[in-house]
Formats: sequence, C-alpha cells, structure tokens
Amino acid sequence: MKLFSANIEDLRTLYINNLKKALDMEQEITDALPKMIEKSTDQQLAAAFRDHLQQTQGHVARVEDLLRRSTGDIDTITCKAIGGLITEAEDSIKDAKHTAIRDITLIAAAQQVEHHEIAVYGTLRNWATLLGLSNDAQALESILNEEKAADKLLSSISDGVNMQAAA
Ligand SMILES: [Fe+2]
Ligand SMILES: [Fe+2]
Repeated sequence: MKLFSANIEDLRTLYINNLKKALDMEQEITDALPKMIEKSTDQQLAAAFRDHLQQTQGHVARVEDLLRRSTGDIDTITCKAIGGLITEAEDSIKDAKHTAIRDITLIAAAQQVEHHEIAVYGTLRNWATLLGLSNDAQALESILNEEKAADKLLSSISDGVNMQAAA
C-alpha cells in the first residue's frame, strides 16, 4: 500500500486514537478479570484467568508506555466494544445457575474478549509497521502473541469443562 504524507498524518491520528481505545479496553479487562476468577469453579480456569490478569496488567503498562512515548500522555478513549462484551458476559453469567454451565459461559465470554483483543492488536501492529514505528510494532506483536496464547489455552480448558456441562 502506498501512503502519501497527508494519509500518513491521518493514519498516525487513527493509530494514536486506537492505542487510546486499547488502553481503555485493557483497563476494563483488568477490572473484569477478578470478578471472573471469583465466579470460576474449575481450578484450571481460575488459574488461567489469574495468569491472564497478570499479563493484562502488563498490557496496560506497555500500551501506556507506547502512548507516553508518542504523545507524552496516557489519555484514553472509551472502547465501546469491550463495554458491550463485558455487559453481555455479566448478563449470561447471571443466567447460568449450574457451576459447569457458568464455567462454559465464562470461557465463551473470555474468548470473545480475546478475539476482540487479537483483532485490535493485529490492526495496531500493522498500522505501526506502515508508520515505520518498528519498536511499537514489536511491542504490539508481543502483546498479540499473549492474547493468542490465552485464547488457545481457553480452548483447551473448554474441552474438559464442556464435557462436564454436557454430563
Ligand atoms: Fe490484553
Ligand atoms: Fe487478553
């Protein structure tokens, strides 16, 4: 793709605004994960959420770092998508009366969040590359890989939990 200088200015603004949304997203996930740990019955699931909470706190710090270096600030823009996903998750979890069903509901909700994060970081990494920001692209790629690994782990945990829920 060939970009002219005016396009580059627009792309830079788009990139920064989406980093600000990513920061809001990670902050909202940091608030949601402790509640998800509390609601998990499956020990492996609770442990996966605890590990990912730690990683998510790292994502907050890394996105803050990228923003600080680009703008001198750590402003956020509300990520409406994550707000919607979390509200939906809370509603479904409220409806799930049995523990195994609640666990699969938690996994489903968490995977939707991971898929959203994968889309966000894949895009941000590509934009950073287009803008020639190779350090940013590397940092975003490493967050992206952690989101992908979290999603994969949830898939493997869901195999066991789905069996219990169906039993
Ligand atoms: Fe994250
Ligand atoms: Fe994540």
